Amino acid sequence: MAKDTPQTFYLKDYTPFGYDVESVHLTFRLTPETTRILSRIRFAPKPDATDSTFFLHGEDLTLISARIDGQAVTPDLVEGGLKCEVPGTPFTWEAEVEINPAGNTALEGLYMSNRMYCTQCEAEGFRKITYYPDRPDVMSTFTVRIEGDEPVMLSNGNPMGQGEGWAEWHDPWPKPAYLFALVAGDLVNYAGAFTTRSGKEVELNIWVRPGDEGKCAFGMEALKKSMKWDEDVYGLEYDLDLFNIVAVDDFNMGAMENKGLNIFNSSCVLASPETSTDANFERIEAIIAHEYFHNWTGNRITCRDWFQLCLKEGLTVFRDAQFTADMRSEPVKRIDDVIALRARQFPEDGGPLAHPPRPEEFQEINNFYTATVYEKGAEVIGMLKRLVGDDNYYKALKLYFERHDGQACTIEDWLKVFEDATGRDLQQFKLWYSQAGTPRLKVSEDYADGTYTLTFEQSTPPTPGQPDKAPRVIPVAVGLLSPNGDEVRATEVLELTEAKQSFSFDGLAARPVPSILREFSAPVILQRETTNAERAFLLAHDTDPFNRWEAGNALAKETRVTMVLDGDAPDAAYLDALEKLVRDDDQDPAFRALVLTPPSQADIAQTLHERGFTPDPQKIYDAAETFAQTLAQQLETSLPRLYAATTADGAYVPDAEGAGKRALNGRILSLLTRLDGGDQAARQYAAADNMTQQYAALAALMKAEKGAAQSQAFFDQWQDDRLVMDKWFALQIACAAPEKTAATAAALTRHALFDMKNPNRFRAVMGALAGNHAGFHHASGEAYQLLADNLIALDTLNPQTTARMCAAFQTWKRYGTGRQSLIRAQLTRIANAPDLSRDTTEMVTRILDA
Ligand code: PHE
Ligand code: ZN
Repeated sequence: MAKDTPQTFYLKDYTPFGYDVESVHLTFRLTPETTRILSRIRFAPKPDATDSTFFLHGEDLTLISARIDGQAVTPDLVEGGLKCEVPGTPFTWEAEVEINPAGNTALEGLYMSNRMYCTQCEAEGFRKITYYPDRPDVMSTFTVRIEGDEPVMLSNGNPMGQGEGWAEWHDPWPKPAYLFALVAGDLVNYAGAFTTRSGKEVELNIWVRPGDEGKCAFGMEALKKSMKWDEDVYGLEYDLDLFNIVAVDDFNMGAMENKGLNIFNSSCVLASPETSTDANFERIEAIIAHEYFHNWTGNRITCRDWFQLCLKEGLTVFRDAQFTADMRSEPVKRIDDVIALRARQFPEDGGPLAHPPRPEEFQEINNFYTATVYEKGAEVIGMLKRLVGDDNYYKALKLYFERHDGQACTIEDWLKVFEDATGRDLQQFKLWYSQAGTPRLKVSEDYADGTYTLTFEQSTPPTPGQPDKAPRVIPVAVGLLSPNGDEVRATEVLELTEAKQSFSFDGLAARPVPSILREFSAPVILQRETTNAERAFLLAHDTDPFNRWEAGNALAKETRVTMVLDGDAPDAAYLDALEKLVRDDDQDPAFRALVLTPPSQADIAQTLHERGFTPDPQKIYDAAETFAQTLAQQLETSLPRLYAATTADGAYVPDAEGAGKRALNGRILSLLTRLDGGDQAARQYAAADNMTQQYAALAALMKAEKGAAQSQAFFDQWQDDRLVMDKWFALQIACAAPEKTAATAAALTRHALFDMKNPNRFRAVMGALAGNHAGFHHASGEAYQLLADNLIALDTLNPQTTARMCAAFQTWKRYGTGRQSLIRAQLTRIANAPDLSRDTTEMVTRILDA
């Protein structure tokens, strides 16, 4: 199809496929450039079919031959697949196709990564392997034979046999094609075992390239913990005798939940204390859990069509967040998630790419693996759970698994189990799935005669295609504190259903201080006139840890905003409050670290924009620097003691407690480095025996422009470790001053180890460029141009990763006219690049249409 007439797919057009697929047999004859795939598929026409067109998807395939019931046929090759005349009774379809895995740089379908064959079929990659009804509502059992010289050849399900040059697999669970997987190569396994609560022995393996065996132990433990947790909390057991994980170096996303054969970006599974930071460990644990949890929420119950993506992703993110909260710290996990939501989902929801958690149209589904589908999808489930209560939530989930096991479902099915389990009408709640945009919640208050009244007004700004929004159901968790700091009303959940609504609390002896939206009970933006004194009061007294952090965060933002707008010095009262908290050894180190972590510069830009100002990235950067310098000076006498007190003793353990302590230690070190010229950081770098401390020291030094020697030493030590080198690439750009950011990134793209074909490396450089707020938006426009150059170059190789990175430009309309015209020029240049992919065309067009 011509590039200027892209096809749009609509939810309202859904029609079931006219045939059941009773079984699928595949034979792979592996060679790097000319792999042959023979398919034998049993189709049965559905008696009640509304559309009996026999259309099979297929892309980049060379059809060698096709047969129906043994007779050669000549199908009609059409755009995106083939059509064929077929019998009106059950029949066997056979096809032989040829593909080129070695030439597949898009990393979709069957491709090669480091001499290893692997597949990625979600969302629509199976059609690059053979002709098939490549849609999630078509489910079947797969039997797979792999022929080749690779020592290890894996597919889904259970092994059926193997011999010299072949292996056979059978997956007894019917599945959509997007869950198909095959891996073949020179791999070694790190083995484990798990006994399910009903006594079934499950063999576990993490398959890696020889040399990486030492980085599997943590992932294996995380897998076992996940299996146990899903039994304990959701009553869900694993359902095969074998669970395989494979680490792959070239992968577009984090990981993939293929049935019984999860494929992971190696950055999301390989870990060791020497090479991984605390943040890496936590993320790996969460992603292993996430993919494992998909076995029920995604695989046993899948999606009817890709518009329903949040059915599996929102729920699975919600489940992995519950898991992390249980394994580590609930408040810290919540705070981290809200920071991420505001950093990634709020900009999406407030810009040209805004879409509802369940979109109603798309051109390229790969462009909808978004923060809105994943993270907001999870927030919506969190609200639902809060509204119905914990017991009802688990009752509804039980019904969901009983009623829909083995099915391909919709959001309607999901909400219906909640309605049936609780008797609640969720019609209005459903708006969360169909409306885009972040609701604003304006709060006003009144106090008279012992009665305190809170009035909420909700509104949601227009988003593309949705000028007007109806009021939603918003659960607002509220607690009240008395002026002496005691809690006079414990948390209760107010249920907003109208555009404007009031709630009263009586019998109060004095005007209370409200703590609103505790635990961040809804993904909204709260608008309330308040004072810094009240924020400081809540930072000191709130019983809800999330809101305590939120009060500190609001203070930090207020201070930064005033510094930017009025050129003021940092707020003294806030500095005092911070100092008090940091020095208070009775407080949880992880919490102190979070309060000491400055709001991101992008967040300040968003806040300014929200209030009607045009953010100036350089001024925001300067304010951040001034603030940090002032804070360091204020803490000068305490820093050495704090540094010593938070330095972990004993062996490195990547648990929540140790990580919290090291996070605080890292914050202290970064402040100390502003005063001591890097002496302490250099000592820490030299002594570090784990990546968390080595990296923190290097980051502090690089930020102070004192890290040249250590950076070289780091390179020499780690140049053969791809994952550690990604850190080295990213850190140089993240630490560069605004005027040097683009040049630093440009130089790194010329480095011998820069490799565009590896998404991790590309993201390390280009992601860090886009993530350095003041550097990316430097008035020269050099960074915009560098990113555009690289996106254009990558698009011919890997459209999916290119398209995702275009989102770096999504906030362009909030900046001044000079920057806007620089960005528009780059977006236009990308849009006009010859043969631009459908993925990138859709993204750039949507962003330009802002
Ligand atoms: N389904 C994967 C997950 O959420 C993500 C993914 C999507 C991976 C598309 C690859 C391709 O776990
Ligand atoms: Zn997922």
